Amino acid sequence: MRRLPLWTVLIVAVAMLPAADARAQSNYDESKVPQYTLPDPLVASDGQPVTDADAWRQQRRPEILRLFQEYVYGKAPGKPAEMSFHTRSAAADALDGLATRKEVTVRFSADPDGPSMDILIYLPKDAKKPVPLFVGLNFQGNHSIHTDPAITLSRSWMRDKAGVDNHRATEKSRGVAASRWPVEMIVKRGYGLATIYYGDIDPDFHDGFQNGVHPLFYREGQTKPEPGQWGSIGAWAWGLARALDYFETDDAVDHRRVAVLGHSRLGKTSLWAGARDERFALVISNDSGCGGAALSRRAFGETVARINTSFPHWFCDNFKKYNNREGDCPVDQHMLIALMAPRPVYVASAEGDPWADPRGEFLSAHGAHGVYRLLGTEGMLADKMPPVEQPVTGTIGYHIRKGRHDVTDYDWGRYLDFADRHLGEK
Ligand code: GCU
Repeated sequence: MRRLPLWTVLIVAVAMLPAADARAQSNYDESKVPQYTLPDPLVASDGQPVTDADAWRQQRRPEILRLFQEYVYGKAPGKPAEMSFHTRSAAADALDGLATRKEVTVRFSADPDGPSMDILIYLPKDAKKPVPLFVGLNFQGNHSIHTDPAITLSRSWMRDKAGVDNHRATEKSRGVAASRWPVEMIVKRGYGLATIYYGDIDPDFHDGFQNGVHPLFYREGQTKPEPGQWGSIGAWAWGLARALDYFETDDAVDHRRVAVLGHSRLGKTSLWAGARDERFALVISNDSGCGGAALSRRAFGETVARINTSFPHWFCDNFKKYNNREGDCPVDQHMLIALMAPRPVYVASAEGDPWADPRGEFLSAHGAHGVYRLLGTEGMLADKMPPVEQPVTGTIGYHIRKGRHDVTDYDWGRYLDFADRHLGEK
């Protein structure tokens, strides 16, 4: 038998390393967190301090946004000129009379067979006026968020998980993610819920950006994004902005009161969506970790090098320059949180989720406080990380709950309270 060259064996062996091993090798010891200095969101790159709201809005905010675009998530295109919206189904009575349900297909180009995404929307049934709404991407198809048999079963490529056969969802996957999407609880509180399968926008595997929305925007001869252009997180966040374009056309939705939320990689995405598009009125990160709310410079749990190796398609190529060199990056994630200011932002962690570095998530939320104060809001009402399940509710909200990496009713309860406080009618 022909022997494989040693390098092939090594590459295969490394690629097969179970994620658990990578996790076991990570640092979880607070005393081993490297010494670091965070870039100051309120000092411009030319060294000038930012002392008033105008300087923040006109200079420093655009500068920080450009840095995240260039070095972390990549630059994305704008709204496609030929985008169109098509109502796929509509029901005036859903969820035992609690809600209305609608499915809207967003076509990103004039080609009906080109890339598109389906938005599933539940609104409280007896709403007398346009309602505020939560929008978030889901991992397993719109039909996974509730057992409602009328939700169209996704035909998109999907990772093989419960109820998925050969990358296609089967009837068995209806409702598999329902515990993360308490639709009844949300509509009873007077909010709508909209969700989109993230794989409609870009399937979550690295194919060199041939599928999903990227190729729609390649210039003549281009075959993949440039080092400072969008990866998959950039594309998912762009898709959320396109959902907002749709909400602006739907009279039943109050598009000025749309909260964007996401869990884990989709929490990284909701933060980037909220940063790049100020139409999102409130932004929520659930256990988003590295490349989301957690400070990269702490290198606690998942690191920049680790994430860029396991998921080379998530960020832009330039981000790889900071593998094991977090301190050289001109931004850290507290500056991402600051890009939401003065809009309310909520960062949530879970005690049993060290991979996402709960303390690093708290510290980056806290690191945005100065910007929120400069813009005349209360910012974060805590100097220290609060105890488990004692939420902090300023303009920057934070909690750490018991349990593992997940989205639970506890999390949703806090988000709804936060939305009541900040999106309530003025
Ligand atoms: C992996 C990855 C995380 C990510 C998570 C998820 O654990 O390392 O960065 O947040 O997947 O999206 O579930």
